[in-house]
Amino acid sequence: MFKAVLFDLDGVITDTAEYHYRAWKKLGEELGVSIDREFNERLKGVSREDSLQLILEHGGRGADFSAEEFAALAKKKNDNYVQMIEEVSPADVYPGILALLQTLKARDIKIALASASKNGPSLLEKMALTDYFDAIADPAKVAQGKPAPDIFELAAKEVGVAITEAIGVEDAQAGIAAIKASRALPVGVGQSEDLGEDIALVATTAELTFDYLVEVWQAANA
Ligand code: BG6
Ligand code: MG
Repeated sequence: MFKAVLFDLDGVITDTAEYHYRAWKKLGEELGVSIDREFNERLKGVSREDSLQLILEHGGRGADFSAEEFAALAKKKNDNYVQMIEEVSPADVYPGILALLQTLKARDIKIALASASKNGPSLLEKMALTDYFDAIADPAKVAQGKPAPDIFELAAKEVGVAITEAIGVEDAQAGIAAIKASRALPVGVGQSEDLGEDIALVATTAELTFDYLVEVWQAANA
């Protein structure tokens, strides 16, 4: 049986992936770089700085900004994003997530956050979920962001569970790649067109029950 579940946040625990998209889109408009939902799939799960670099390259502006200007652009996006999430509350937790966290806790299965977002801790607070988490892996402490496995490896380490005994839950291409590289068992929230045909997928978190995770684990370890 799995001993830990390592959760992504944005797009898995709540709908903040949408706010990241809107904030990047707005910054893109100011820079003359158009960002549509298809391109956004490549940004999901990716750190703030790496996302900005991808956006600038996408718009052919990869070499247009000094380090200071780049940092100011990243800050501008984050300031806008932080404003958007100001009103996030427990009502914004995606369907099924609270029940899943409660069941995992009751069964003594470790719960960790493996989000690339530096806003993760404050979002968990706003949603009153902090106490469910045995660890919040700090993205500032890992050498490489998703799709590298580092943040999932750190999350498993922080709850004292071997990565091969953990399930990782993700809504992003980069995140699924990170889970695969870490050797945890991936469960995707989203569509096979975006996340692939080769992993367990739920269309929405309402399907992300403890029984479903057990089923996926047993199938993978049969
Ligand atoms: C990830 C999001 O969780 O965090 C990305 O999927 C985001 O869209 C990244 O860029 C970094 O977040 P933040 O809040 O530190 O800018
Ligand atoms: Mg995500």
